[in-house]
Parts: sequence; C-alpha cells; structure tokens
Amino acid sequence: MISPSNRSNAIKEYYFSLKLQEIELLNRNGFDVINLGIGNPDLPPPDAVIGELSKSIADSTAHGYQSYKGINELRESFSLWYKRYFSVDLNPDKEILPLMGSKEGIMHISMAFVNPGESILIPNPGYPTYKAVAKIVGAKVIEYNLSETTNWFVDFDELEKLALDKVKLMWVNYPNMPTGQNATKKQFKKLIDFAVKHSILIVNDNPYSFILNSKPLSILAVPEAHKVALELNSLSKSHNMAGFRIGMLAGNSSYLKSVLKIKSNMDSGMYKPLQLAATCALNQDNSWYQSNNSAYLKRRVLVEQLIDLVKGEYSKQQSGLFIWSKIPSSFTSSVAFSDYYLDKAKVFFTPGIVFGSNGEGYFRVSLCSTIETLKKAILRIQQIQR
Ligand SMILES: Cc1ncc(COP(=O)(O)O)c(C=O)c1O
Repeated sequence: MISPSNRSNAIKEYYFSLKLQEIELLNRNGFDVINLGIGNPDLPPPDAVIGELSKSIADSTAHGYQSYKGINELRESFSLWYKRYFSVDLNPDKEILPLMGSKEGIMHISMAFVNPGESILIPNPGYPTYKAVAKIVGAKVIEYNLSETTNWFVDFDELEKLALDKVKLMWVNYPNMPTGQNATKKQFKKLIDFAVKHSILIVNDNPYSFILNSKPLSILAVPEAHKVALELNSLSKSHNMAGFRIGMLAGNSSYLKSVLKIKSNMDSGMYKPLQLAATCALNQDNSWYQSNNSAYLKRRVLVEQLIDLVKGEYSKQQSGLFIWSKIPSSFTSSVAFSDYYLDKAKVFFTPGIVFGSNGEGYFRVSLCSTIETLKKAILRIQQIQR
C-alpha cells in the first residue's frame, strides 16, 4: 500500500461526510432519520435562474473553457450587488474574483499567503474548514475564543495576549456560523485596526448576510479595509444555489492577483451557463430575499418549538440558516445530547463540539427542512417524552 501524505494524516474526513454515511446506513436499515444537521438549502433558486440556465445550456458555444477570472457579466453583477446591498464600491475587473463556492477560496487564500510554520488565527467555535485547511498548508493553528459573554464576537484583550508574531492570516465569519450572531461596523473597524497593527490579512467569510438578517454588512465597508481585508461571499445560501458552486472573493487587486496565481493552476473557469445563471440571480430585486426569508421565518417558529421541547436555551436574535442553542444541563456533552435524539427519535442535531471546544455544551439546528418535516420532528420528540 502507498501511504498517504503527512498533510492528509494531519486531518480527518469532514465530520458531515462521515455523519451522512452513518445516517444513510440507518435509513438503509429502514429508519427514516430526520436530519436537522446540515445547512443545505432545500428551497429553489429564483425561477429566472432556472430559465437562464436552460436557455444558456442550449447555446452550442457555451461549453468550452472559460476565463480563469469568470465572465465579465458575473463580475459586474457581483460589483453591483456589493454596491446595492453593502454600499461597497468594487472594481469588477480587479477587485472581484469569482470562485467555485467560497469553500475553495479558503484553500486558495491559505495557499496564497501562508508559508508552512506561519500561523493562522481561527475562531473557536467556527467553520471546521478553516482549521483543516490551515493544517493542510502546514500552518500553525492559533484558536481565538468566541463566547456567549462577548456575544460571540472577538475579545480583543484576549487576542492581544496570543502569540501573534508569526500570524499571517485571520478568519472571521459574520453573520457567524454556528452562533448566528452579527457584527457591527464599529466591531469590524476594530478588527481592521488590529489587522493593520499586526500586519495580518483578515478575511471575513460572509455567506449568511441575506438570511434572516435585515442589514447585510461587509467588512469592506470599513474605510481602511482594502489595506488588510478580503471578503468571501457565495450564492449557496443567499440564492439557494449551493449545488451550483458559485462564490466570490472581493478586495484589494494585488491580494486577488496572488490568489488567482494559485487558483489558475488548480482549476479553470466555471461552466458558462452556471455563471450566466448566477448573474441572473444577483440581478434579482429585493423581493426575492423577502420571499425566501418569509419561508425561513415560518420554519424558525417550528424550530424554536422543537428546541423548547428538548429544553434548549437560545437567543432569539440569530441570523443565518441555523439556530444555535445550549444543551440542557441533564446531558453531559453535546455528542451525548445529539446521540440521544438520533437514537430515540431518529432526529439528528449537530453537536456543538464539531465547531471547536467552545461549541461544547451547545447544538445547532438547521432551518433547511420543510414545515412538514419539522412538524414530524416535533411529533417524534413529543412521542419519546410521553
Ligand atoms: C461559514 C461558512 N463558510 C463557507 C461555507 C461554504 O460555502 P460554499 O457553498 O460557498 O462553498 C459554508 C457552508 O456551509 C459556511 O457555513
């Protein structure tokens, strides 16, 4: 047998990749598991997007390689989208780089800026990919704590005490996943000041701005942000297009050039019909977001009922596709809590520990299930409580 690389040994298969296999096995054995774990939007994209996709697929000239930096129409639409909803001016030729979803951007950015042995600041709790990618590129992971006491925002006093000398990159993610909390422009300004002071590239991963959030905010709206900050965005959640794999990176053109150097050696431009469909999605008016959010609002009422039933504690002010909640004190860990409901009710909640040690004691429930499914989950929990 040929042995895997040290890089591959440093990480584990993605938690959900493994958990989904376990759930599939249960389903194959006749159980009907209700999976409230994953943020995979089940609602459809805008109708016009499907129309545009079908139309452009029929164009016989649309099937070839595309530009490494995306088609002009897509970059221009991203630029208008940022102007309209975030009040941020971005040059569509130089300050926007379309990506195959924001997840690949996490790898490209890390490869473009971080040398083996340098450090990356990662939120705890946070999206697991930041840490896995840091390990893949041979960086030292330095976790910074987020906690309920600071409303899941960065504690700058604590941050200043960390070993910052070799830190090259810092991941932030607001609206935050898994905690659902938002940042303010003032907080982003403090982050930019911190990054300027320590010469750290700061990247805000921003895929949840349009879900249950009345004021989309970009870190690039802070005046000095172009010196030290980039932002990732994505259509996966905002337009229910996760399978299309359309995201983007925005910010200073010289940083984007470094990322393109890596990206253009790893993949080629996205399929043109997908780019045209994404352009169409970005050009939808505000009523699209309103109707999408009204569906999520109805679901949130049921998810809150469900969490009340299992005696979770949660903030009512959360943005994004999930509700983040404390487990009741009768359970010793988030995994024990999650396993209990998977075993007894065949309802799956994500244990908070998946997002880091500070996620212990919490669980996350997705809003990506129909009203019928959520009602069924409520019934099942009520049944085991009888
Ligand atoms: C915080 C965060 N960042 C990035 C991603 C990846 O999104 P995309 O589909 O754009 O790759 C996700 C997906 O769940 C996420 O939760």
